[in-house]
Amino acid sequence: MPRITFHPLGATVEAPSGLELRDAAKRAGIELDFPCGGQGTCGRCAARVLSGRLDVIETAISADTVPDEGSILACRAKIGDEDAVVEVREQPDLSAGQFIDEEEEASFIPPGWQEQPTDQGALVSTYLIDVPPPQEGEGASDLERLYTSLRRNPEEPAFDYSLHALRELAGALRCRNGKAMAAAGRFGERRRLVHLEAGGDLRSLYGIAVDLGTTTVAVNLVSIPENRIIASRTEYNGQVVCGLDIISRINYAGRPERLEELRLRALKTINGLIGQLAAAVAPARNRIYGCALSGNTTMIHLLLGMNPEYIRLAPYTPTVLDVPPLRAGDIGLDIHPEGPVFISPAVGSYVGGDITAGLLCTGSAFTSDEICLFMDIGTNGEIVLGNGDFLMACACSAGPAFEGGGIGNGMRAAGGAIDRVQIDRETGQATYRTIGDLPPRGICGSGMLSLLAGLFTGGWLDASGRFKRPSSSSFIDFKGRLGIYTVVPWEKNAITVTERDIENLIRAKAALYAACGLLTKQAGIGFQNIAKVFIAGGFGRYLDIEDAVTIGLLPDIPRDRFHYLGNASLKGSTMILLSEEHRRLQQGFVKRMTYVELNTDSEYMDQYTGALFLPHTDRRQFPSLKNRLAD
Ligand code: FES
Repeated sequence: MPRITFHPLGATVEAPSGLELRDAAKRAGIELDFPCGGQGTCGRCAARVLSGRLDVIETAISADTVPDEGSILACRAKIGDEDAVVEVREQPDLSAGQFIDEEEEASFIPPGWQEQPTDQGALVSTYLIDVPPPQEGEGASDLERLYTSLRRNPEEPAFDYSLHALRELAGALRCRNGKAMAAAGRFGERRRLVHLEAGGDLRSLYGIAVDLGTTTVAVNLVSIPENRIIASRTEYNGQVVCGLDIISRINYAGRPERLEELRLRALKTINGLIGQLAAAVAPARNRIYGCALSGNTTMIHLLLGMNPEYIRLAPYTPTVLDVPPLRAGDIGLDIHPEGPVFISPAVGSYVGGDITAGLLCTGSAFTSDEICLFMDIGTNGEIVLGNGDFLMACACSAGPAFEGGGIGNGMRAAGGAIDRVQIDRETGQATYRTIGDLPPRGICGSGMLSLLAGLFTGGWLDASGRFKRPSSSSFIDFKGRLGIYTVVPWEKNAITVTERDIENLIRAKAALYAACGLLTKQAGIGFQNIAKVFIAGGFGRYLDIEDAVTIGLLPDIPRDRFHYLGNASLKGSTMILLSEEHRRLQQGFVKRMTYVELNTDSEYMDQYTGALFLPHTDRRQFPSLKNRLAD
């Protein structure tokens, strides 16, 4: 069997001829990064064969991704019939992310919590039970006696019983004179006893709220009786090495073993975060009885091990939009295995439960007369427009540019990422800020936006996103026909941005703006009629509204109408965990929402083409920029 050595990591593995290089790497314990899911479209998995030979999988790859001479795309290579030494990129650094402010999440109190009657509306509840000892000649079983005891209160709903609870029943009823604590979960309309114990502490009841994002996963540990978030944790989704965006993940999941790999990666990420929270909050150990989880439609399919392929193929039909109630043990979540898992309902293939959960964070916005816009900005842009009378939703593929993907020196919003740039009007030189005040390692989405706005308002870029030629700035260079701007002029670790990078960002902002434009047009309103714009998602957190309007990502309306929500999906999941009223409200959103499919709408293409300029082909849509642009 050929021996494959991965340089510079030094790992060697024996692998059979014909095995894909990425699978050989996995056997060697090496995590390679496949940003496009191994489709040969991003070129970012280039590897160099230092000795020996690998076979190349013959498929059409994009001209932009043809590797340099002597290099191969690791995603398109198979083990040949001889030993080889391959130089691969280092593993992606998944440890240095800057995430949501966990303290801020932990202190967040969603509107309306205090009005909830203790835990009666929560997904899980605890009950004190008092069952008199069995009497001779009575003939009733423990379960019948428990049932009679519970039904003494006619207000109590009927219960189902898990086998787990039945196994605990005899012991629980005999230990403390029949005084025991029962934990019950809601499975749709039904309640089910999931745990029984003698004595017991009613206050010791926890649940978790999860946002399963394409890029990051966030978990809140919630004390149900206290209506309080105890602690929060966030981590990169372990699936990111298998593709940066939804389509890449769907492509990656094309084989059963890869679908299973993606399922396990998501599960491992969530369980890792639950483990951290349970370790940090000792009383919560073994006391987490329920979970409310929200994610986009693809992420939910992958977590549940369902083939996501038909989400991507016309007529875009997912396996399920509203997942029936599940047990934690069905999924493999590390909480009580009988505990209920509520998964937020989706509206369409690309408008998922993360959006219907996120809408809960807008207070009464989408139930009143005012027309509001909700935007979740990320790799996928999801948009909802409406009020108490109507709701319309759509999703567009913005690509990974907002998260630093598809940009030569791009990176996620992590320590060392340039997230804000100012451009000197005289010289074109950049001054910049980095996350964590660390030495610059790359530029993240908000940094790119800020850079683009500065270059445009300074007159260095034209409306099509190309540098004006000739340029008087020594920071703008031309290699052939490609314009290159130097943000950080360090000899060794220079950070540059090319016209190709700028084009990627303009495409991303055009996709979002066009989607908003289409929804407003279909609703027969203009942007000025929108009373509030809610911005959700990790990227939204670092977004500068003025920059975003300047490049034509956000509409030119009074700035005080914009509101940040942070991780609305996580906050909404927390509200769902705690309150039946919020679960009903969410169902109401789903029922009222009309899903607009952009893929088949020709008007969307017209809107998109118009938005492929800075700020737009129709500058009258951006009147406030009139006096700010250089000649
Ligand atoms: Fe190989 Fe994208 S080209 S992962």
